[in-house]
Amino acid sequence: MTEIIDGKSIAEDVVAKVKEQAAALAGAGVRPGLAVVIVGEDPASQVYVASKSRRAKECGFHSVQHSLPADTGEGELVALIKELNADPAIHGILVQLPLPNHIDAGRIIQTIAPQKDVDGFHFINVGKLGTGEVETAFVPCTPAGAMLMLERVRGKDLSGLNAVVIGRSNIVGKPMANLLLAANATVTIAHSRTKDLPAVARGADILVAAVGRPQMVKGDWVKPGATVIDVGINRIAAPEKGEGKTRLVGDVAYEEAKAVAGAITPVPGGVGPMTIAMLMANTLVSAFRAAGREPPVF
Ligand code: GUN
Repeated sequence: MTEIIDGKSIAEDVVAKVKEQAAALAGAGVRPGLAVVIVGEDPASQVYVASKSRRAKECGFHSVQHSLPADTGEGELVALIKELNADPAIHGILVQLPLPNHIDAGRIIQTIAPQKDVDGFHFINVGKLGTGEVETAFVPCTPAGAMLMLERVRGKDLSGLNAVVIGRSNIVGKPMANLLLAANATVTIAHSRTKDLPAVARGADILVAAVGRPQMVKGDWVKPGATVIDVGINRIAAPEKGEGKTRLVGDVAYEEAKAVAGAITPVPGGVGPMTIAMLMANTLVSAFRAAGREPPVF
């Protein structure tokens, strides 16, 4: 039987631990603080940001949201981040991406103090992850969550296993490859220019799809018994549900892949819920570090 890796339930476990540890830290007079910044009115981003702020409150955090108009200048955004960097009540700063085109997202990310960069996008955190300093880095939330799900099936040590990551983004593909490597897997990063992608995918004991293309990974790309981690969240038309209706699908053709895989993450209810849970975990860890205490390990 194929194991369905339940992201909702693993995310609830993470959040339960965050709440418990946040309460312990509150006893010592420190309340974790998360600032979420959004520029513009992109509807998907608005939904994500609202759930991040809501989850933070639920965890007992000090939660602030800055919603700025689409025509906000880069200088204004930099000034806000500098304020948040200097605010001792804030332990985590998240600037929702994408930003409007007139703002240099790279410059904004590098303005965030590395010790408050709970997204793990600052060069310092990227460098720490790349050099194996995983203990003191902030690891990007989506790959960190995907690793926790993988751990439930394969354990922490992936020695001898072939992992293939399809996608080379800075947010998911590259950090995911680094985490798999740190766990001793033999890692291949495949992408749109890879020759014979299906054959490369078929070599994977662990197959991670992070390309943003609905149902691209077919059942015959999957090695029998492989663990399939689907990072994609794509909204597609669902005429079978009625006119104008849509549904969410991953980057993997789920039913086909499930028939071959040993374990697979569903969409929705897979990696998605893990991303926000890991953001809470990173913010909590940041507050522990700021208080000079040993942070919990997730
Ligand atoms: N947009 C899509 N995913 C993310 C993420 O993980 N962090 C931020 N800041 N923006 C995103």
